Amino acid sequence: MSANDLTLVHVTDTHLLAGGALLHGRIDTWARTAEALEAAARFSPDAVVVTGDIADRGAQVHAGAAKLFEHAARELRCPVIVVPGNHDPAGSVGATFNRKRIASGPNPADTVHMNGGLRIIGLDTHGFRESAGRLSRPQLHWLRAVLAIPAPRGTVLALHHPPIDSVLPALAGRGLTRPEELAAVLAGSDVKGILCGHYHLPTFGSLGSIPVWIGPAVSYNHNLLAPDGQVHDLDTSWFSVIKVGAGQLSATPVQGPRPAAVMSREVAVPARQPALL
Ligand SMILES: [Fe+2]
Repeated sequence: MSANDLTLVHVTDTHLLAGGALLHGRIDTWARTAEALEAAARFSPDAVVVTGDIADRGAQVHAGAAKLFEHAARELRCPVIVVPGNHDPAGSVGATFNRKRIASGPNPADTVHMNGGLRIIGLDTHGFRESAGRLSRPQLHWLRAVLAIPAPRGTVLALHHPPIDSVLPALAGRGLTRPEELAAVLAGSDVKGILCGHYHLPTFGSLGSIPVWIGPAVSYNHNLLAPDGQVHDLDTSWFSVIKVGAGQLSATPVQGPRPAAVMSREVAVPARQPALL
């Protein structure tokens, strides 16, 4: 990777509640989201991408969330690109979000952004109070038309429902339905990567030859070692840093600013010599 790489901060599944209520009676998701957006400054992002579940269970939080993201956009001096998730009612991510978009698609949350030659396309995968997400035929036609003209530094897609399965049995069949339709649209395009949320579990995969990064959640994450038939939520908060270079892409999870324990040490790294970290 090089100094010319573009940097995206990927925040997902904020699960905000109305009136500042605590998620599961203990997690201040507004504070966690604000802290992640403040911490994003550390990476000087070219854009912040938020991949859905802004609200928890349809809570009326989107006006407040739009203000929070606008504040972050001003502080970070970069756009905040938002798509809805299955906890966000239809139409809740409307015109108050994605103010820097250069084009819109069949749904208000289908948006196109251009930053430093990198195109970022947000897609609404619907699914409020449904078991899985979907892309409509008009959305796929629109996406194919947009991708017909390549962007100078390629394209990244942002959508809530992953087009690949989760390793967690409780999440089986809850991703994007008919992922092969999306794969067919993306074949031969300039899409370099796909950013998703939804699983509350960091996962790397691919759709055809395109890398897919499912970011860990800001609000809480699933415990893969939970007993069979049970879902355990972990009180952890993460976001991701995505580097997009010429022919390269990387995704790095970042634990939120208040991890349970921090061990600090200084390590002298000799120039041009391997070091054990
Ligand atoms: Fe979620």
